[in-house]
Amino acid sequence: MRSSFLAFHVPDIGNEEVAAVAETLRSGWLTTGPKVHAFEHDFANYIGTPHAVAVNSGTAALHLALDAIGLQEGDEVLVPTMTFAATAEVVLYFKARPVLIDCETDTLNLDPAGLEKAIGRHTRALIPVHFAGHACDMAAILEIARTHRIKIIEDAAHALPAAYNGQRVGTFGELGCFSFYATKAICTGEGGMVTTANPEYAESVRMMSLHGISKDAWKRYSAEGSWYYEVVRPGFKYNMTDIAAALGLVQLDKCNRMWQARRRIAKIYAEALADLDEIVLPAARSNVEHAWHLYPIRLGLEQLRISRAEFIGLMREQNIGTSVHFIPLHQHPFYRDAYRYRREDFPNASDAYERLVSLPIYPAMGENDIADVVTVVRETIRRNRR
Ligand SMILES: Cc1ncc(COP(=O)(O)O)c(C=O)c1O
Repeated sequence: MRSSFLAFHVPDIGNEEVAAVAETLRSGWLTTGPKVHAFEHDFANYIGTPHAVAVNSGTAALHLALDAIGLQEGDEVLVPTMTFAATAEVVLYFKARPVLIDCETDTLNLDPAGLEKAIGRHTRALIPVHFAGHACDMAAILEIARTHRIKIIEDAAHALPAAYNGQRVGTFGELGCFSFYATKAICTGEGGMVTTANPEYAESVRMMSLHGISKDAWKRYSAEGSWYYEVVRPGFKYNMTDIAAALGLVQLDKCNRMWQARRRIAKIYAEALADLDEIVLPAARSNVEHAWHLYPIRLGLEQLRISRAEFIGLMREQNIGTSVHFIPLHQHPFYRDAYRYRREDFPNASDAYERLVSLPIYPAMGENDIADVVTVVRETIRRNRR
């Protein structure tokens, strides 16, 4: 057995990141400035979109994206139930209603088949979440959105640098939203990015991220700027700091390498666990480049003598950290009580939830760590077969 605990996630932070942050601290420019602008520029290039606006979380990105499309009180937004709280809570900031949608049985992404019947008079937008880093069925989703004139805001928090039919996610919807939370593909501690091809949306997000002021602080205080500013709308305080962006620039440079490392781990898991009938491995469709942010397996509970909680406990006893993504939104007290959702309303997500366990998958894992995960999963299954 391992002598030390393998954490579910450890960010890949090296000397370069430390040096970049130290340099920024010494530069005297801490808040939104040249590093943020460089990060936005490089990020936009990386995913292939004209505009990227950096903010201080993925949640802020989603909030400002919905603000940019002019979401109003009483509107409805379609949101997958298989997601993190942030995707739906931002809809509630507007006193609008998140309408939950069940997932596909293979990818666990929002099921396009469930969209038509959920669309009504008040439906304004749809937030596909590229769950675990697997791109949603964007062809089907775009077609439905076009037919019903619904705006698409991609929640790409898991999905840098995933692609669908060769095109990076975050470039399909009116706006795309990324997260740079500590566990994500690239991290800035906390941080996020809004991407869009529409300059008006980009300007709206930029302005509302800094109090609704018509010019950002960088321009105001730099040589070409001036002391004058105007508040055009009551905005928010969501701007990214240069300290975070310094970290982000180095991480973005490493993004491909870190992605290859995760892809390699996913391949090792897929090969080493393929013969276990008691486990369903994550799907990866052929027209998708999977970001492999998460590696969620599903337990064949009918073939096992243990529950999911017991499986996680046994993994932990063997010093392997795991997690669960996600407790579907309809099973949380708030959504259950506010909208009277029942388990049966979302059969696929409800069934998947009871079986889901996310295995560690991150570039800082060593060869022994990867091998230990495989061994402990195999042993735990072998000992607990029916
Ligand atoms: C699917 C999804 N959307 C949005 C977010 C929010 O991102 P952040 O934590 O940066 O606010 C998360 C965070 O984990 C997420 O998993």
